[in-house]
Amino acid sequence: MRWNTLWPLALAGLAVAEDGSQAWLRYAPVHCNKHCQDALPSHITTLNATKGSPLETAGDELQKGFRDIVGKHVQVSHGCDAPPSSIVVATVSDFLECGSPLAKDSTPLDEDGFYLLTHGSSAMILGQNARGALYGAFEYLSLLAQGDFDALASTQTTENPHAPIRWINQWDNMDGSIERGYAGPSIFFAEGAIVEDLTRAREYARLLSSIRVNAIIVNNVNANATLLTPENMDGLQRIADVMRPYGVQVGISLNFASPQDLGGLNTYDPLDESVIQWWGDITDSLYERIPDFAGYLVKASSEGQPGPDTYNRTLAEGANLFARALKPHGGVLMFRAFVYDHHLTEDNWRNDRANAAVDFFKPLDGEFEDNTVIQIKYGPIDFQVREPVSPLFANLRHTNVAIELQVTQEYFGQQCHLFYMPPLWKTITDFDLRVDNRSSVVRDILSGEHFKRPLGGWAAVVNVGTNTTWLGSHLALSNLYAYGRLAWDPTLDSVAVLESWTRLTFGANRHLLDTITDLSMASWPAYENYTGNLGMQTLTDILYTHYGPNPATHDGNGWGMWTRANSETIGMDRTVWNGTGFSGQYPPQVAARYEDPATTPDNLLLWFHHVPYTRRLRETGETVIQHFYNAHYAGAETAHSFVGLWDSLKGLIDTRRFAEVRERFVYQAGHAIVWRDSVSGFYRNLSGIPDAHDRVWNHPWRLEAEDMQLDGYVAYTVSPPEAGSGATAIVTATNSTTGVARTTVPFPDGMYDLVVNYYDLYGGKSEWTVYLNDEAVGSWKGDMEDRLGHNPSIYLDGHSATRVRFAGVKVREGDELRVEGVADGIEPAPVDYVALLPAGVVD
Ligand SMILES: *[C@@H]1O[C@H](CO)[C@@H](O)[C@H](O)[C@H]1NC(C)=O
Ligand SMILES: *[C@@H]1O[C@H](CO)[C@@H](O)[C@H](O)[C@H]1NC(C)=O
Ligand SMILES: *[C@@H]1O[C@H](CO)[C@@H](O)[C@H](O)[C@H]1NC(C)=O
Ligand SMILES: *[C@@H]1O[C@H](CO)[C@@H](O)[C@H](O)[C@H]1NC(C)=O
Ligand SMILES: *[C@@H]1O[C@H](CO)[C@@H](O)[C@H](O)[C@H]1NC(C)=O
Ligand SMILES: *[C@@H]1O[C@H](CO)[C@@H](O)[C@H](O)[C@H]1NC(C)=O
Ligand SMILES: *[C@@H]1O[C@H](CO)[C@@H](O)[C@H](O)[C@H]1NC(C)=O
Ligand SMILES: *[C@@H]1O[C@H](CO)[C@@H](O)[C@H](O)[C@H]1NC(C)=O
Ligand SMILES: *[C@@H]1O[C@H](CO)[C@@H](O)[C@H](O)[C@H]1NC(C)=O
Repeated sequence: MRWNTLWPLALAGLAVAEDGSQAWLRYAPVHCNKHCQDALPSHITTLNATKGSPLETAGDELQKGFRDIVGKHVQVSHGCDAPPSSIVVATVSDFLECGSPLAKDSTPLDEDGFYLLTHGSSAMILGQNARGALYGAFEYLSLLAQGDFDALASTQTTENPHAPIRWINQWDNMDGSIERGYAGPSIFFAEGAIVEDLTRAREYARLLSSIRVNAIIVNNVNANATLLTPENMDGLQRIADVMRPYGVQVGISLNFASPQDLGGLNTYDPLDESVIQWWGDITDSLYERIPDFAGYLVKASSEGQPGPDTYNRTLAEGANLFARALKPHGGVLMFRAFVYDHHLTEDNWRNDRANAAVDFFKPLDGEFEDNTVIQIKYGPIDFQVREPVSPLFANLRHTNVAIELQVTQEYFGQQCHLFYMPPLWKTITDFDLRVDNRSSVVRDILSGEHFKRPLGGWAAVVNVGTNTTWLGSHLALSNLYAYGRLAWDPTLDSVAVLESWTRLTFGANRHLLDTITDLSMASWPAYENYTGNLGMQTLTDILYTHYGPNPATHDGNGWGMWTRANSETIGMDRTVWNGTGFSGQYPPQVAARYEDPATTPDNLLLWFHHVPYTRRLRETGETVIQHFYNAHYAGAETAHSFVGLWDSLKGLIDTRRFAEVRERFVYQAGHAIVWRDSVSGFYRNLSGIPDAHDRVWNHPWRLEAEDMQLDGYVAYTVSPPEAGSGATAIVTATNSTTGVARTTVPFPDGMYDLVVNYYDLYGGKSEWTVYLNDEAVGSWKGDMEDRLGHNPSIYLDGHSATRVRFAGVKVREGDELRVEGVADGIEPAPVDYVALLPAGVVD
């Protein structure tokens, strides 16, 4: 056996610093000796690979993959005469033109589909179009990178997409900021224009192409009309030019009022001739620059955005304006169903934001042009941790639809908490809506199959930024990978998809695979446990940053994300008989299930019903309030366990990525406690019902900062109160001073984990040191905004509350414990409490 070619490569592979920028396309070396190399193709033959076409890209990627993964140099050649041991890459039509026949019984290919056939050291990758051929090349490389040599020696695969629309939405603003972006500024925009250097955009297209995403909307749905200036349209052309070799088409979000804001017309009425003309001209100019332009995404009459309602026109009249402009060019209009009144009054028991989409769109079914696709968020509210499927999917029989998902973790911990989403997505896409009492699985509605629609599919908000890791967190990329895979084939298994991603991203070690699977599969249940349970939504601050806990913000405002919690009862009554009538928007069989609390699944109980805290759950027999407590404590413990699970991977992952992920898990473990205490404390306070296990408001190992002897520090009431232990923290008396807080350790001698809960505001970088008898135990800085790349809050609240931990500290009863804080900027070195935790205590 000869190792000569592999060995230096393997070494090189280890030595290369892994920064995450290559994501799942790192082409890390796999074990492949001379014999193994010889069994692989020795030539790459592309047919008709014109410059810049996805076929040329396919040839280049294969060459790079062979070199990096198995250390084999393979030449690319062109033309019909492929040498033996070739991997032929072509479109089916070019292949046939070479006079080579296809097997008679071949399954026909749909647009973007491909065949991958391998036999010994020969392979054929034939796409329905050039993009399909590139998808096939990436599929081949994925097998190679996962070391699946059996499949490479003999496979006959036909792959067709589940749906034609497999798009990404970026919420990038023209100034370079990103709405709900947590990984640095935009890779597309800066200072009102398209950036000069589009290297990252090109790399992004490569990632998207490898997961078979076929188009991207590059700017925010809250769109700025200045995107349509000639200079910016030239910029869009440059973006399209770098993405085209990867088969990724470019589209944009539009601002409905552009004819007035930018065009200088005195109206944007969709039925006005000058407006129609204006949009026609804009559309023509875009297609002149970008002949394969994908189309438009429009958010109209939604959350303050202008729309057809200004002129008393219907949403369909508004949508058709764009659809008709696009139609002659073959473009698609994605029109968002996220239309609702955000000034609803909670006084009216029957008011319900969840009703809005069906109320607005059902009467318009059949009125949209056939190149229009209604883009519907998966649930009726807004990307919550648990929602029922949007009933609009059952109510549009004569209209194309797509589902809108969010890879961006807006309500899911903003990439600072782990949240693997496919299991959640599948509760939606696998759901049987029982339209007309027959099987009507959401994924079949999306594909267009169920209602026999020509178009349909998937969109996901992704919001990658300039950060090297794309999403700020290495593990968050599993969601992007899985999104593409599931949009192509939603019947794939969540764990199988994840394992492929893990092998490609980190390696194939069994313990590594199992651990990342365990972490990921526990992540949604844990997060749901410590955020919001029983269908009560993510109980985050909906008025500020959608990140940390703040249940009170859900009620008493027009946004309609209500809980209707009072001292005795909680939940939205969405029944037909006594509530908002929402359950009646589903087809009868599903409606009947949700109408009755006895047949509603526990995890949606409070979504559909207003019940006493003392109501018992069907599945566990716990009361609603006790379930809140139990779930919050269990969820925080699970999050805590993630650190140990991750630590077991030490040595199996390169040091940089290991450390970066670990830092996030440590942070998450602390913030999960903040969530647990806030939500449990809030409902403990509101209901007056104690925790049967006496955990809530009972923290025997905590030393409250406000109870310490303070010098330069003063007590401060946290808002909301439950975001502070005992509702109170300490801050330095002014923001230019140092504060000292001291106390005497009342606990028995022993080894403890010393934790400090403090508030890390983005307005400064305070410094803290904690001492035991004048000996520093540790110090830290309020710089989470740099380390997490995330700016949650400028207040002392559930977003900024953070924990630092010093493990294994030797403590004696009577020791003096002292915290010194040095304020910085407007961050007054805030401290909530110090806890000394004996082994095994999570608090
Ligand atoms: C080659 O590709 C071009 C577009 O890239 C296409 O128009 C042409 O039909 C293809 N086939 C041949 C045999 O040239
Ligand atoms: C739109 O972009 C222009 C130019 O960059 C900027 O001046 C303006 O404030 C933006 N408008 C909005 C609503 O963001
Ligand atoms: C708006 O349109 C509807 C139906 O097209 C009509 O009944 C109504 O009077 C109009 N309202 C105004 C203010 O024009
Ligand atoms: C659908 O099924 C329900 C019972 O699940 C029944 O009451 C109803 O009549 C059926 N409707 C149709 C149209 O078959
Ligand atoms: C990426 O984000 C991390 C924090 O998550 C930060 O430390 C790093 O500097 C960022 N890198 C870039 C290039 O923005
Ligand atoms: C029915 O609705 C009223 C409000 O109109 C509410 O106060 C009451 O609790 C509801 N009844 C039940 C049984 O849910
Ligand atoms: C969620 O909470 C329940 C207790 O209510 C517990 O049985 C379950 O194990 C928890 N799951 C996770 C992943 O924390
Ligand atoms: C309990 O709720 C009341 C009313 O909102 C509030 O004033 C008080 O600070 C809360 N107490 C705690 C400990 O959360
Ligand atoms: C202290 O905070 C105030 C706002 O509360 C701010 O204006 C001032 O610049 C801060 N001082 C320093 C030294 O940063």
